[in-house]
Amino acid sequence: MNQIDIPPVLVTGATGRVGLVVIDQLLDAGVPVRALTRRSEAAATLPAKVEVFPGDLTVPESLDPALSGAGAVFLVWTAPPQTAEAVFERLAAHVRRVVFLSSPHQTPHPLFQQPNPMAVLHAGIERLIAATALESTIIRPGMFASNSLAWWAPAIRAGEVVRWPYSAAESAPVDDRDIAAVAARTLYQDGYVGGDYVLTGPQSLTQAAQVDAIGDALGRRIAFEEMTPDEFRTLWEGTVPNSAVDMLLAAWSAAVGQPAYITTAVADILGTAPRTFRQWAVDHAIAFTEGS
Ligand SMILES: NC(=O)c1ccc[n+]([C@@H]2O[C@H](COP(=O)([O-])OP(=O)(O)OC[C@H]3O[C@@H](n4cnc5c(N)ncnc54)[C@H](OP(=O)(O)O)[C@@H]3O)[C@@H](O)[C@H]2O)c1
Repeated sequence: MNQIDIPPVLVTGATGRVGLVVIDQLLDAGVPVRALTRRSEAAATLPAKVEVFPGDLTVPESLDPALSGAGAVFLVWTAPPQTAEAVFERLAAHVRRVVFLSSPHQTPHPLFQQPNPMAVLHAGIERLIAATALESTIIRPGMFASNSLAWWAPAIRAGEVVRWPYSAAESAPVDDRDIAAVAARTLYQDGYVGGDYVLTGPQSLTQAAQVDAIGDALGRRIAFEEMTPDEFRTLWEGTVPNSAVDMLLAAWSAAVGQPAYITTAVADILGTAPRTFRQWAVDHAIAFTEGS
């Protein structure tokens, strides 16, 4: 498999949606894995073969034990940016490679070109990466398929109408498993240094069509009702930062009537077609019927 002869890969965001699957993919490929988490109790939820390290990206010196002896880092940055420069000094001192989970903020499609604090954060991290001698790969997924768990699962589980703004906004949801598989591949296989990949699902679907696909997976029709942007703001007030709500509303508004941007990057890198949203919905149907 042309594996790079590497010491352990440190996975940050190890307890998150993508990081958890990156860990599985790396272990399957025989790569030793270290996982970073701020929460000691999280260790129990990670595979037994993983070496768990406490650490916090906002406390750069806390990363030293996890970085010492590591060869590469899978970097997920959801923390505030203030400590990023100090973290990169440490990364550059310890490891050879970094694979960064970013977003398609450079892609000239309306969905990705609205005011977006996350894009500003990602661009800043990318500038820091470029200023180091680290071998780097940037992974830029569009909308995660799994966003629909937070967005629509509570109403669907409760048997309620899904009320949502911009039902006609289109996106090409990308399966988290495909994102993670690409990230892992670029960590353990040669040929991806300097790579910069926008990852999308294979199909442009309106938000209403995505809810329909979940309904098909459940074998029942899910009622959908358009809500206004202001109703949406009120609904999420206090649970999601206002800036994130504004970011989503602006992106969806701009994406109405615009077929989603679609790339072949997942298939090019993995050699298999990206999973469809329909497949994601079938594989996660239980999350729309059980749990909280
Ligand atoms: N959702 C989308 O549609 C989308 C699209 C494109 C890009 N993205 C990007 O994907 C990234 C999120 O990935 P995800 O969904 O896999 O993550 P996630 O499920 O939101 O989990 C966040 C992870 O970050 C870790 N973390 C948070 N603050 C930390 C800190 N101060 N120090 C160290 N670790 C910290 C958490 O670890 P502990 O709590 O265990 O410490 C957790 O593992 C974001 O950068 C987002 O912008 C998302």
